[in-house]
Amino acid sequence: MAKKTITVGIIGFGTVGAGTARILLQNAEIIRRRLGAPVLLKSISDLDIKRDRGIRLGDVKLTTAARDVIADPDIDIIVELIGGYAPAKEFIFDAIRNGKHVVTANKALLAVHGEEIYAAAEKAGVNVGFEASVAGGIPILKSLREGLAANRIESIYGIVNGTCNYILTLMMNEGRKFDEVLKEAQAKGYAEADPTFDIEGIDSAHKLAIITMLAYGTPVRFDDIYTEGISKITPLDIEFARELGCKIKLLAITKMVNGEIEARVHPTMLPESYPIATVDGVFNALSVSGDAVGSTLFYGRGAGDLPTGSAVVADIMDIGRDILSGCTGRSPLAAFRERANLKIRKMEDITSCYYLRFAAIDKPGVLSKISGVLGKNHISIESVIQKGRKEAEAVPLVMMTHEAVERNVRKALDEINKMDCVGGPTMVIRVEEGKQS
Ligand code: HSE
Repeated sequence: MAKKTITVGIIGFGTVGAGTARILLQNAEIIRRRLGAPVLLKSISDLDIKRDRGIRLGDVKLTTAARDVIADPDIDIIVELIGGYAPAKEFIFDAIRNGKHVVTANKALLAVHGEEIYAAAEKAGVNVGFEASVAGGIPILKSLREGLAANRIESIYGIVNGTCNYILTLMMNEGRKFDEVLKEAQAKGYAEADPTFDIEGIDSAHKLAIITMLAYGTPVRFDDIYTEGISKITPLDIEFARELGCKIKLLAITKMVNGEIEARVHPTMLPESYPIATVDGVFNALSVSGDAVGSTLFYGRGAGDLPTGSAVVADIMDIGRDILSGCTGRSPLAAFRERANLKIRKMEDITSCYYLRFAAIDKPGVLSKISGVLGKNHISIESVIQKGRKEAEAVPLVMMTHEAVERNVRKALDEINKMDCVGGPTMVIRVEEGKQS
C-alpha cells in the first residue's frame, strides 16, 4: 500500500531543532496540503530534555537516546541538528545504514566529509538534504541544484555570515572598533561566546565549500579555500572605504577563471552601489551569475530558529515527495551526477585590485620608494590618498591598485614592510570591481 504519512525524528533540540519542531507542528496543515500527506514529528532527542522550549509538543516523544531515534523502524527521515563532527558524523552514517533519509544543517561536517556522506547515501538509495547548511532560510542550494541547473555558473559572491556582516555594519555606521562591536554582538546573542569560526571566516569557508561543489560539480574541501577573517579591519580602513565610495564586506567568492575554480573568503572592498553592498546587519545575500540567466540576487536571514527551520522543513518535504512517489535521488545530492575534477586555483595565482594602506614615514621620497617596489613587481597604481601630516612619523598612505597578481603583491609587500620608511605592516584588502549583480 502506498505510504500516507512521512515520519520524522530530530536529533538536537537547540535553536534550529526547536524552530524545526515549531514549524512542523504549527504549519502542519499547510505542509500536509502542499505535500499531499501529513508529516508526523515522532521523536526528538537531546541531552537536555528538561528545558522548556515554549513549544506544545503533544505526542512527540522526547528522549536522550539519539540511537533509539535512529533505530526506530517507523521513522523515514532523521534530522541531524547537533552540529560539529562527532557524534554527528556517526549518527548520519548510522541513519544511512539503517536506510533512513537524512536532513542536516551541519556545514562544518559537509565541508570536510561531504563526499563520503553523499556517496554513502547514493549507494544506500537514500536522500540527504542540507539546504539549511548555507545561508539559513535562503533557498540557495535548491536554486543552484535545480532552478539554475541550465547555466554555467560564472561567479558567486556571498555574504554568508550574519555575525560578520552585523559587526562590519556597526563599524561602518557608527565608526566603532572591531573589539567593541564584537563584545556588543556577543551580549546581544548575535555572536558566539567563542566567535572564532565566525570572525575568522571559517564558517563562511565551510559554506563556500558546499556552494562551490554545487556550482561546479568539483569536490572542494574546506582546506582548499583561502580564508581570512575581519578581525584586522580598523575604523581607519572603513573610513577610507567610505571616502572611496565603497563598503567592506566579508565575501565568500567562487568563480570560474580560465577553466579553474577560485574559492576564497576574505574582507572585500566593493562599490557601495552594488546591490550586495547594501546588505547590512545580520542579513545574508548571494549574487549568482550564470551564462544564461545573467545576474541574480538572493537575500534573506542566514540564521535563527525559524529561518533555518524553514530550510530544514523544506528538505523534509522534498524528501517526502520522493517517498510518496516511490523514488529517490531524482535530483543529485551535489547537483551533478558526474563529478568534474577542475583545478582549484592557488591564492597566489589569483588576480584582483587591491587597497593597500601603508604606515609610511612622512618624509620626502617615501612615496616614490614604495611605488618603485610596486612598479618593479608589475603592480600599477590607480590612485593615492595620504592622510595627515606628522613629520618623520608614520601616517596612513593608501594606494588603490589596478588588477595585479596576488603573488606579486605579496612579494612587493614583503620588501616594502622591511623598509625603514615604513612603520608597520601594510593592510591589504582585495577590491572587487568585476561582474556583480
Ligand atoms: N554563525 C552563523 C552566522 C549562523 O553568523 O551567520 C549559522 O550559520
